[in-house]
Formats: sequence, structure tokens, C-alpha cells
Amino acid sequence: MSATNVAPNAAEIKPAAGKLGIMIPGMGAVATTLVAGVEAIRRGMAKPIGSMTQMGTIRLGKRTEDRTPMIKDFAPIAKLDDVVFTGWDIFGGNLYEAAKTAGVLDRDQLLEMKPFLESIEPMPAVFDQHYVKRLEGKRIKSGKNKCDLANQIRNDISEFKTRTDRQVMIWCGSTEIFLQQTAVHQTLAAFEKGLVEDDPNISPSMLYAWACLKEGIPFANGAPNLTVDIPALRELSKQMGAPICGKDFKTGQTFLKTVLAPALKTRYLGLSGWYSTNILGNRDGEVLDDPESFKTKEESKLGVLDYILQPEKHPDLYKDFYHKVRINYYPPRGDNKEGWDNIDLFGWLGYPMQLKVDFLCRDSILAAPLALDLCLYLDLAARTPLLKNLGIQEWLSFYFKAPDSAPGVYPEHDLFIQSMKLKNTLRHIMGEDLLTHLGLDYYGD
Ligand SMILES: NC(=O)c1ccc[n+]([C@@H]2O[C@H](COP(=O)([O-])OP(=O)(O)OC[C@H]3O[C@@H](n4cnc5c(N)ncnc54)[C@H](O)[C@@H]3O)[C@@H](O)[C@H]2O)c1
Repeated sequence: MSATNVAPNAAEIKPAAGKLGIMIPGMGAVATTLVAGVEAIRRGMAKPIGSMTQMGTIRLGKRTEDRTPMIKDFAPIAKLDDVVFTGWDIFGGNLYEAAKTAGVLDRDQLLEMKPFLESIEPMPAVFDQHYVKRLEGKRIKSGKNKCDLANQIRNDISEFKTRTDRQVMIWCGSTEIFLQQTAVHQTLAAFEKGLVEDDPNISPSMLYAWACLKEGIPFANGAPNLTVDIPALRELSKQMGAPICGKDFKTGQTFLKTVLAPALKTRYLGLSGWYSTNILGNRDGEVLDDPESFKTKEESKLGVLDYILQPEKHPDLYKDFYHKVRINYYPPRGDNKEGWDNIDLFGWLGYPMQLKVDFLCRDSILAAPLALDLCLYLDLAARTPLLKNLGIQEWLSFYFKAPDSAPGVYPEHDLFIQSMKLKNTLRHIMGEDLLTHLGLDYYGD
């Protein structure tokens, strides 16, 4: 029997005692919306809308038992009052300034939290313009090689460890250029040699991730960068008992795509084309205007339909559907993205139909609660013997455009399968029965 199938004992999960430190490389729109949002919620000024850990419930046992606690009362999740933030960015200034620049939250709301936001100043970053062409580093670390730079991040982490009891890291930095796996990514030994030799296939986000995992701290990736999606860092994650998960927050268009595509598939409706385009005017949009960063995002966004629709299993329905994704930088909209989808589908006897979606969303308002949940769940994973040493936390696929899964296992993209997987994992680690939705037992004698 594998370790993951051993009957769990909820009592073995360490309690969420003391301060949880959240470390954020990249303190731009998403990060400042997260930090300011947590503070507003702590002060009772706003509600944590969109956060499963804060607002979600979980059904336990049979439908007739009426046991549906709040998730935060069911599983030992850290309390928002115990969360402390730090991070790194390439721009100087404190988080009040950064939040004003991001322009997501109302100025009046920010003013109420001004002293708190001013008290957090990002540390100088590890940055190289080769990997993010549209940005110029203003406050960055210098070092003799990548190993030296990564060790400087480890020193920052060590200092933060003296102020907090447990830590997690979440990358909310810009999207880096498209990188593919090479020899240096294949083993930890090759990677660590590459750090000393300044291998160009090791990007700054990998330096943060390596430093983080080396310190035994879980890592999540909000961007589509390759980062921990390489054998070397998976090896380190397992070695250190420091959980990792997928990449690229699933917020706007892809969130809806992974709801609509399973709906078509469930009804065996065919698809001839899916055209997705966005206008976006924040700094993320500006970075993604560079073709090399866009390529990284495009790969992450394109993957989902093939996995959900499985054209090889359903050639009459999904063979050769045309899938296109565009992101257009359009400054007037700021963080308020507009995502359009045109879906050409077909039904009974092949008759064509169309579906149009126009999602006028707010990028960081959708992303911040996902970032919060990921931090709290990764911290839970690190305290749970059954999860801690697994490396990849597939149960967190729910949050990602590019979920991670074991080698040889295809990722789950369907939002509702992901949600069921997540909640069943919580039931499992807490020693509750899993829900199968079979329900025959309601109708027996
Ligand atoms: N908001 C969403 O809905 C959403 C969804 C999916 C993914 N993402 C991704 O999340 C990331 C953050 O998005 P955002 O809107 O906050 O972008 P942003 O441009 O406002 O913030 C990113 C910050 O990262 C900083 N940065 C870049 N390289 C860095 C480095 N090496 N070290 C430290 N800081 C660095 C930049 O200076 C910037 O302040 C982006 O990669 C974006 O693609 C966002």
C-alpha cells in the first residue's frame, strides 16, 4: 500500500500555531491587491469574496446528515490574523505606492490602510531584463553568479524566518520569456552546477524557487513561467518535504473555458473553433505585449482544451478544432480586462451554432483570493504528513491554468473535477468519507 493510501489520522496534522509568513516575489497588482485585501478583511472593512478557504463550505457524510461546516472550521487552516507579508520587487517604494500604481483598489480604500501598506517595503529583487524584456530593474541585487544571487534570497528568507513561525512563497512576478526544459533542468545536481556556471536556462523565478525549496518552504507559481515545472526542482521539493503545485492563476477567460468546455463535452456537442481575445491595460498586459513573454502565456492558455475535450478519443466531435488566443495591450482599461470568446460548435446531425462570451472582469480582483487560498492550503499541506512529502500537490489544480501532475499522469483541467479533487483531499486528510455522488444507498430498504 502506498503512503498516500494509508488511513489518515487528522490528529497528525500539526496545528496552525503562530505566525504564517507569506513571501511574494513580484509585488505588483496581484500582490498589492492580496495584501491590502487581507488587511481590509482583518479590519472588517470588506468580505473575502472569491476565497474558498474563507467563504467555502464542505459537505460531510450523507445528504441526510446535514453536516456542512465552513472549510476554515473543518481543516486547520491558518487564520488571517496570523498572516504576515514580505516580498521582493524591482521597483523601489512601499506597498502603498505600489498599490496606487497598480490602480486596482479605490484610493479612499487604500488611504484607510496607508500606514499598514507603507510599513511593507519590497526587498531588492533578483532580476535580469533578458527574461522580462519590457521592464527595467531599479532596485536589484548584484552577485558574482546565479548561485550567489540565489543565496542572497536564502539570506532574506532566513531573516524572515526569525520573525515568523512558518512560511510559504508565491510568485506574483511578471511573466518571463518562454523557456523549455534543457539538460540543466533534469537533475538537482545539474541545476546546482548550472547556478554556479550562470546557465542562461535558469531564470530569476527559478532562483527564488530553488532558494525557497532549499529552505524547506512550499512554493506556488502565479505566472506561466517554467520555474518549478522541472525535474530538478521537483526532486528538491520531495527531498525537502516542501510542497509545490501548478502554474498560472486560473482567473478570467481560462476559468470560464474550463467550465464551458466540460459542458460541451458532457453533452457530446462538437467544436469547430474557439477564438479567445483580451484587452488589458495593466503592467502585466504591457509585459505580455512582448512576444517572448506572450509565448509563455499562450502555451499555458492553449493547453486546456485538448486535455478536456480529448480529440483523440472523440475525433467526430473535436478533431482539428481551431483554437486561437490573443492578448492585446490596451492601456485605457488598466486592470479591468475584457475577454471575448467566440465558440463555433455543432450539434445533432452536424448543425452549426455559436456561443459568445464577453467577460468584463477585474484581473487582480479575481487573482487575489486564489493567491490567498494557495498560500493557506500549501501551509496546510506542509503540516500534513500525508501530503508534505509528495512534492506536487495535484489537489490544488483548481487554481491553475497549467496544473501540475505526476509524470505520466495527464493534468485535470475541468473546474468541477478539480473542485471535487480538492474537497475530497480535505475530507481524506481529516479522516472523513470521500464523496462519490453515487447515492444508491438513499433508495435501498
Ligand atoms: N491577475 C490575473 O488575473 C493573473 C492571472 C494569471 C496569471 N497572472 C500572472 O501573475 C503575475 C502578476 O500579475 P500582476 O498583474 O500583478 O503583474 P504586475 O506587472 O502588476 O506585477 C508584477 C511585478 O513583478 C515584478 N517583477 C518582475 N520580475 C521580478 C523579479 N525577478 N523579482 C521580483 N519582482 C519582479 C514587477 O516589477 C512587477 O511589480 C503575472 O505574471 C501575470 O501574468 C495574473
